[in-house]
Amino acid sequence: MRVRITGIITPRATDALIDLVHDIYGPSPVPLHRPVFEGNERRYLTETIDSNFVSSVGARVTEFERRIAGFTGCKRAIATMNGTAALHMALLVAGVRAGDEVVSQALTFVATCNAISYIGARPVFVDVDRDTMGMSPAALRRWLENNTRREGGVAMNRETGARIAACVPMHTFGLPCRIAEIADICAEFGITLVEDAAESLGSYVGDRHTGSFGKLATLSFNGNKVITTGGGGMIVTDDEALADRAKHLTTTAKVPHPWEFMHDEVGYNYRLPNLNAALGCAQMETLPGMLRIKADIAARYRAFCAEHGLHFIEPIEGATANFWLNAVRLEDRNARDTFLEYTNAQGVMTRPIWRLMNELAAFRDCQTDGLEISRWLVERVVNLPSSVPEKEFHRLTA
Ligand SMILES: Cc1ncc(COP(=O)(O)O)c(C=O)c1O
Repeated sequence: MRVRITGIITPRATDALIDLVHDIYGPSPVPLHRPVFEGNERRYLTETIDSNFVSSVGARVTEFERRIAGFTGCKRAIATMNGTAALHMALLVAGVRAGDEVVSQALTFVATCNAISYIGARPVFVDVDRDTMGMSPAALRRWLENNTRREGGVAMNRETGARIAACVPMHTFGLPCRIAEIADICAEFGITLVEDAAESLGSYVGDRHTGSFGKLATLSFNGNKVITTGGGGMIVTDDEALADRAKHLTTTAKVPHPWEFMHDEVGYNYRLPNLNAALGCAQMETLPGMLRIKADIAARYRAFCAEHGLHFIEPIEGATANFWLNAVRLEDRNARDTFLEYTNAQGVMTRPIWRLMNELAAFRDCQTDGLEISRWLVERVVNLPSSVPEKEFHRLTA
């Protein structure tokens, strides 16, 4: 019998889902996403402490950068102390300046917009696609066509007179957005593409890693991500000159010299400490195993949703998701809130999408295109527990 997908989740189905979560993760409390340290983390940390190189100098930083560059297929990777700092620096080296505007999505974590604001630039919010929950190429094109004029190959906002310096789409919950189409539109309008790939390490479009479509992209290794360094981030790019500049700016703009303290501009102390990079090197060794296990968990949620008529959010055709956070779409806000209340009361951590950025005080005055789909999704989408379960740990190092 085929079950119709309605988004309605009955109390019985909710209980069955909680049973499934307990079967995967064991008894409550079940967190949304917890880190896993089952590889060489302790060994590498101890070695790093014993070496005394725990801070801003050390071989683990270079090794972690090399590993991320290799994994994402980008020529260069520059480690930073978190993903927000990485995005701040990526935008700066991409040429974004105070007074510029940056097109992004309102459906994102606040860090995306904070990084834009640190420069003194302002976000403009366009809508997302219903299936990817990432920036919609159609909405981007529509907004640019209706709201900008070209001056010497540069897109200018007709209303504010500001330059549209960059576009920052985000791969929501690790589901790749239509990034190739977005890259084409950015090229057509002379706008620099910077991908916020904080959530999408291990997600691909075809055989290209997310974050390899833009001029630059950034990753996060916060404690809730697929892999963690405690706190950490990375800029990735194929552009050697931008990579060198990002490295220089994130390391206090110090000019290399055996003993002189020469800094040739205002720099930032954004470098990832060697201690955190040691954790990152060990986590990279288990990353392929984590991605396999996360795909298996997604398959169990998928089967459950098919059986109970629920909408499980899948990557679009041709894309591969890391399933950082699995998500379902319920019928309406009421269904969402009932589900959130019940599951959390049972010790199963589920969460709604973030509040839209244009609803936060800091970004209330930013221009939007109405954000119809973003608002629709916020009412309905819920994340389910998505960590690698303890009983699967042995598969990480197998
Ligand atoms: C979409 C998005 N952008 C940026 C960040 C910022 O990363 P971090 O917390 O490492 O500063 C995060 C995660 O926290 C994120 O989810």
